[in-house]
Amino acid sequence: MEIQVIENNTYISLKHKDGSFPNCFTFIFARSGYGKTLFMESLIEEFYRAGYTVLILSDVKDEFELGYAMFPPKKPYHLNRLKNDGKPIETKPVKLYHPFTLNIPSSKIPEINFYGFSLKDLRRPEWSMLTESAWESDTIRLLLNASSSISPNQGLFDFLHFIQDNIVGRKEGQSYKPDPNAFHLRTTGGTAKSLQDVASYFMTFKKHPFLVSDNSDLKKNLDWKKILEDQKHYHVFGTRWIDDEKLKEFTILVLLNQILRNRKFTTKPCLIIIPEIRFLVPIRPKGYKEFLAKGITSNLSIMRNVGRGGNSFATDSQVWSDVDESVRNSGTNTFYGELGGSKDIENVTKSMRYKSDRSQQLKHSDYPRSVIMQEQPEENWDLWLPGHCHAEEEYDFFEMYKGHFYEKMQSYKPLIDKIKTTIKEEENKIKEKIKKQIQKEKEEIEKKKAEKEARKQESTQKIEEKVEKVKEKEEQTKEVLMKLAWEIHQDRNLEPSERSYRAIGRKLDLNHITVKKYVKEFQNKLDNENNTPVGLEPIESFGGDE
Ligand SMILES: Nc1ncnc2c1ncn2[C@@H]1O[C@H](COP(=O)(O)OP(=O)(O)OP(=O)(O)O)[C@@H](O)[C@H]1O
Ligand SMILES: [Mg+2]
Repeated sequence: MEIQVIENNTYISLKHKDGSFPNCFTFIFARSGYGKTLFMESLIEEFYRAGYTVLILSDVKDEFELGYAMFPPKKPYHLNRLKNDGKPIETKPVKLYHPFTLNIPSSKIPEINFYGFSLKDLRRPEWSMLTESAWESDTIRLLLNASSSISPNQGLFDFLHFIQDNIVGRKEGQSYKPDPNAFHLRTTGGTAKSLQDVASYFMTFKKHPFLVSDNSDLKKNLDWKKILEDQKHYHVFGTRWIDDEKLKEFTILVLLNQILRNRKFTTKPCLIIIPEIRFLVPIRPKGYKEFLAKGITSNLSIMRNVGRGGNSFATDSQVWSDVDESVRNSGTNTFYGELGGSKDIENVTKSMRYKSDRSQQLKHSDYPRSVIMQEQPEENWDLWLPGHCHAEEEYDFFEMYKGHFYEKMQSYKPLIDKIKTTIKEEENKIKEKIKKQIQKEKEEIEKKKAEKEARKQESTQKIEEKVEKVKEKEEQTKEVLMKLAWEIHQDRNLEPSERSYRAIGRKLDLNHITVKKYVKEFQNKLDNENNTPVGLEPIESFGGDE
């Protein structure tokens, strides 16, 4: 970056003396209201003129601050300065972007591209920030798996249910009641606990449903190939209707990742602007910011050379000490205006080894809004102004837009209604699926119960059969004894004393009463079998037997 002096004013040319236009990272640190944004606006114009695609990824003031580039300047200080510098008034065509949200007012508003991120396009850094989980954790593995497995027509409900059904699993035989407030997920106890945590991170998307299916029209509104080749417009991304700080910053991370991923397929060099970088890469990030900062810094470290022509980057911050050191150190051009606090002045002075006159400049500049450049600290520079309007404090973007482009104002109620219907349909589909699932589970439980009952009956039957067999065996033994007793008793070859019940009892190890019973029973059996009494002589009684 070269600095050229035009009369009393200072003009920064981005071209090197040899005519080359190297990519650079520009940082500007100064207290609030010092002119940082005006300076960035002038810088953007230089890149725009050089054929860069201009992408402004955040809007800290929720005012589409950089969108004012579409209006001509009005303030006397601005017009006079342009006149003095011989710089023409020059508005820029601007495209505005905003994540889709149910908070969009239904009244007429400026023309805005409401977009969504495909669930299939999110990667490790984005999932990690959203769920505040380490890059290598199980949670991230689950989310990445679900993201790549769902089909292009599946949205957030299906995505979360995929995690529930295929990955988290449930305790067998135990079913949890689906929670209608938590995307109808079954989120109680046991293995489902992590699912409950995961679901809680997605609650905010009920109000801001911009995580969408891959084939959603909202995703098509973010046609990166078209945007990245379009260096005619400024592309300004805002989040004014997203009332959740984390979600606002999440969109910046996703936008940056998607731009760099898509830069491979496009040919124009890009200028990426992220105002107030200290919010994204604070010096000591905590909670989700830890993962956000990691995502942003890893992108910043590679972005200069990604894609044909590479990329340049510019940012500002009110406080130098609040910005992550490695990010601060990645600047190729760093400017300091008056700083806000003595601690910050002390830190910069120490870090840059500035002498007291330079340090004084950080406290009270020699003339209003002048800056020093880290790389050439000897001089003070009074930077030039953009050819278009700047967002002055008392301005209202919508009012000004109405004044200039009334015919473009429109109501997005039809879009809101359409998306609401899509979500309702998706929810109903899931409810239907759950109903069927529960019915199936019920049937399965019934089936298992019936099977158990059948098995029980079978076992009982088997035991009975066995007992029967044992009894049969006993019967057979008894029958043998009965037969034997009867035969002995009938055997005329024996002495009567040997055929007595007592004698038989001694032989067969039975009581004489039992022997008598057996002989009688056997005789009865024979009688029954032949149906006619066998003509045996009546058994004489033997002494002592009766
Ligand atoms: N050269 C100038 N002459 C007169 N007024 C100026 C000049 N530069 C800036 N201003 C005034 O200062 C205001 C703030 O400028 P700007 O918005 O660029 O500050 P900033 O450093 O970005 O502040 P913040 O940190 O709050 O975003 C401008 O709206 C303008 O009214
Ligand atoms: Mg500003």
